[in-house]
Amino acid sequence: MCFKRCTERIWIEIVQVTFSNKCFREGLLLGLGNPLLDISANVDHEFLQKYDLKPNNAILAEEKHKLLYEELMELYNADFIAGGSVQNTMRVAQWLLQKPKVATYMGCVGRDKYSKILEDKAAADGLNVRYQYTDKESTGTCAVLITGKERSLCANLAAANCFSPLHIEKPENKHLIDIAKYIYISGFFLTVSPESIQAVAKHAHENDKVFMMNLSAPFLCEFFQKPMMAAFPYVDIIFGNETEADTFAKANNLDATDRKQIALKISEMEKINDKRKRIVVITQGTEAVLLAKDGTITEYPVIKLPEEKVVDTNAAGDAFVGGFLAQLVQGKSIDTCIKCGIWTAAQIVQRSGCTYEGKPNFQS
Ligand SMILES: Nc1ncnc2c1ncn2[C@@H]1O[C@H](COP(=O)(O)OP(=O)(O)O)[C@@H](O)[C@H]1O
Ligand SMILES: [Mg+2]
Repeated sequence: MCFKRCTERIWIEIVQVTFSNKCFREGLLLGLGNPLLDISANVDHEFLQKYDLKPNNAILAEEKHKLLYEELMELYNADFIAGGSVQNTMRVAQWLLQKPKVATYMGCVGRDKYSKILEDKAAADGLNVRYQYTDKESTGTCAVLITGKERSLCANLAAANCFSPLHIEKPENKHLIDIAKYIYISGFFLTVSPESIQAVAKHAHENDKVFMMNLSAPFLCEFFQKPMMAAFPYVDIIFGNETEADTFAKANNLDATDRKQIALKISEMEKINDKRKRIVVITQGTEAVLLAKDGTITEYPVIKLPEEKVVDTNAAGDAFVGGFLAQLVQGKSIDTCIKCGIWTAAQIVQRSGCTYEGKPNFQS
């Protein structure tokens, strides 16, 4: 009797372990991006005007933004927080999965205290952090300028810009790319290492892996169209927000202004892997999330939060993708992925920066 019960128990455990390994094994998800330390502060519109910045935008810093960072630290009581769009997304996915090292993250940093802050945070949140280190530049920073419910990002890429394909060719990193089944790269990375994106995209295609990107910012759709369109045929799932979708449509002459039409047209653009059609997910702040899949549009309303509960919407889009990916790697439906994205983003906007606390209690 006892023997029988023991064997049953062992069987149940084997099944559980096998099942959980299948769903959540280490290294399943890989992210490539720009690791940046956010310098975040609430500012007024005059401050944005002074530095020629728009409220709901994301740009790369130019000469005219040089003094911005110091001014933020000295006069606006800025907070230093771990940032970087893909790193945020991967950290959030880890939070939902609650098992370390399901996600691997690569990007380039300097050898300084900022990269130490970033790496400690990412590792504490369960990421398998594989930074490339450069001696040429210090770790990148991103000014996060919050005006009410909107955020304006101004990134000084510095070391993040030094990422080289040599990093992904290293045997230990190549192994991590080989074992990943889901790969996510921000559009921001297009300004840094389009050749690495091409290499990883081709690898994904040759091995029938899910390759995903984010439009990330309007300027990328406008001024980095060449590398973006070189990567696009490989993209299985593309994410973006409302302004990025609109700019993408104009830049690519999609001949559509209605956002649902835009999403559909993006889903129909050339795709190399014809085993599955491209999925397009457009978030629109407090408006419904649009899904273009198999020639149809579905709208998903976002969670309505009372004004006073929204602390800052920085990283709302990153958190959305983190929630989405956490379900996708478990083999859940796209419907569940989007609902989890919306739930997750609603948690993150109720806190400062891309942070969370306790165990997630998303129910599909
Ligand atoms: N004020 C808000 N209240 C509730 N959810 C929000 C709010 N702002 C953003 N979100 C959630 O975050 C998602 C992404 O936000 P969005 O602003 O579109 O992305 P991004 O940060 O890329 O601009 C939205 O689809 C929504 O689910
Ligand atoms: Mg937004």
